[in-house]
Amino acid sequence: MGKPQNIYDDPDFYEGYRSLRENPVNYNLLLEHPALFSLLPDLAGKDVLDMGCGFGEICALCTQRGARSVMGIDLSQRMLSAAKRENKGFGIQFEQMDMSNVEKLGQNFDLILSSLAVHYVEDFAALAKSVGKCLRPDGIFLFSQEHPIGTCHIDETAPYWVYGEDGKAIYHPLNDYGRPGKREITWFVDGVVKYHRTFSQLVNALTDAGLTIERMEEPLPSPELVAQYPFFEKEYHKPSFLLILARKK
Ligand SMILES: C[S@@+](CC[C@H](N)C(=O)[O-])C[C@H]1O[C@@H](n2cnc3c(N)ncnc32)[C@H](O)[C@@H]1O
Repeated sequence: MGKPQNIYDDPDFYEGYRSLRENPVNYNLLLEHPALFSLLPDLAGKDVLDMGCGFGEICALCTQRGARSVMGIDLSQRMLSAAKRENKGFGIQFEQMDMSNVEKLGQNFDLILSSLAVHYVEDFAALAKSVGKCLRPDGIFLFSQEHPIGTCHIDETAPYWVYGEDGKAIYHPLNDYGRPGKREITWFVDGVVKYHRTFSQLVNALTDAGLTIERMEEPLPSPELVAQYPFFEKEYHKPSFLLILARKK
């Protein structure tokens, strides 16, 4: 496996991503985070690891929900600097590291979570195995990622949405779904690397790692959210996110 790309330390990418997240109307805040938080188990007295913790907001939430210890790991020094600055006083331990090396921490956790970061990891099967080894019995791996029906496209010039005469999206063309692997996309900057995996690959990787899938979510907007922000209606054609909660037996 090659060295992971650390795109969040690219200044132009970082600025673009930061302003996206500072806009209160963003997909993370309105769709993905509520679904993730609804799946969080009781954290009282638990040891938690957040992989790809970014600005550390979820780490802070876990301490507020009573976790005994919270560690956040991330590849990006810029993201971690913001996390440390913005979440002082919560007693969170932040470390710069590749989540693929999670076993090197030599620690065990009750909950390992990851929000919208695992699609940057080349070998998900290896990651799932490492996570399995770092979980205590009955421990939980809870993660969200970009939905496989959104990560599949290879040709960036192909239309992502087809619109009707009234300007409303009517469908999302699906192509190259059955060709898992590296994707290079333009998002704030050119050459952002992500990895597409089919649904069955994700499920089998977790099962092979000795984890049992208990819940999956593909969060959809409420009618109120669509009424306020009509562009969210497209989520009913193609959900942006997939969340999976799996447990070590
Ligand atoms: C979309 S951001 C999500 C940040 C945070 N989890 C949240 O939901 O607000 C993805 C994060 O994953 C981190 N990341 C990407 N690849 C990683 C890897 N291999 N190991 C650790 N962190 C990684 C990035 O640096 C970035 O901070």
